[in-house]
Amino acid sequence: MSEFPIKRLRRLRYNATVRDMVRETSLSKDDFIYPLFAVPGENIRKEIKSMPGVFQMSIDVLVKECVEVEALGIPAVILFGIPSHKDEKGSEAYDDNGIIQKAVRAIKKATKRLLVITDVCLCEYTSHGHCGLLHGEEILNDETLELLAAEALSHAKAGADIIAPSDMMDGRIAAIRKILDDNGFYKIPVLSYAVKYASGFYGPFRDAAESAPAFGDRKSHQMDPANSDEALREAQSDIDEGADIIMVKPGMPYLDVIRRLKDNFNLPIAAYQVSGEYAMIKAAAGNGWLDEERVMIESLTAIKRAGADMILTYFAKDAANYLDRQK
Ligand code: PBG
Repeated sequence: MSEFPIKRLRRLRYNATVRDMVRETSLSKDDFIYPLFAVPGENIRKEIKSMPGVFQMSIDVLVKECVEVEALGIPAVILFGIPSHKDEKGSEAYDDNGIIQKAVRAIKKATKRLLVITDVCLCEYTSHGHCGLLHGEEILNDETLELLAAEALSHAKAGADIIAPSDMMDGRIAAIRKILDDNGFYKIPVLSYAVKYASGFYGPFRDAAESAPAFGDRKSHQMDPANSDEALREAQSDIDEGADIIMVKPGMPYLDVIRRLKDNFNLPIAAYQVSGEYAMIKAAAGNGWLDEERVMIESLTAIKRAGADMILTYFAKDAANYLDRQK
């Protein structure tokens, strides 16, 4: 092995052309999935306080947004719904005329190749804000599976292209795969939120989706942030149950977990740069403490470098515009 002065690592950094040539990771618009929030009503575009630049939108506005997102060259959106009515069983989640089902039909009609991914969970639809049926304060697992499966089927019937369960109940991938296959939707992939941590970084999302739990927390089903071996077990079980893509969430605080999944499993890995990650960058940039565009690109590049094949990010449009300007 040669050493200094023969070896000089700066040789490959001296100018932009060389740096471009040796760059190991590059972002593409194809990497991005853009999260959107659907609300009942008309002509509504309400900014979420803790997420500047992110809006709750009524379906008419959402459709226009999706047309724009498609024109920008972003391949996919993921939809979250705020129902007009919440109850103990989260009924609107699996109602064929629920907010998401209507939104999916409208978006699919107005766009050509945009992939519409739907988040499957009950927390946005239950009056108590928990991800499943309750017995006292316990979140029931097996009884919830049936409802999640019904929700997934209802999304598929509305035209969803990919189903993304985020609830973290045990056995939900198998239950969803089975109901989809039994009903002829064997072509619809399941993007599993396989490794989802019980994270404080979801705070702003719960404003956006109006889904904060009325009591307690999600620690009995989401993962402990201290664990990483367990992430491999979670991913393995979802793969065994039929997941096509596995997700790690949040993103930047869990880059080590993304890398472990990438090294251990041979299937596409998604990462979710969540609401709190977005809010931190926006808030610091808003105060003039960080260069927003630079940190946006750096954070997305880091997530991709860690091993993510695709990134769910509220920056999708800004990052796509940035990449267009680099051409
Ligand atoms: C559950 C769900 C959550 C997020 C995505 N799906 C919230 C939660 O688990 O409490 C969080 C996404 C984000 O913070 O951006 N339906």
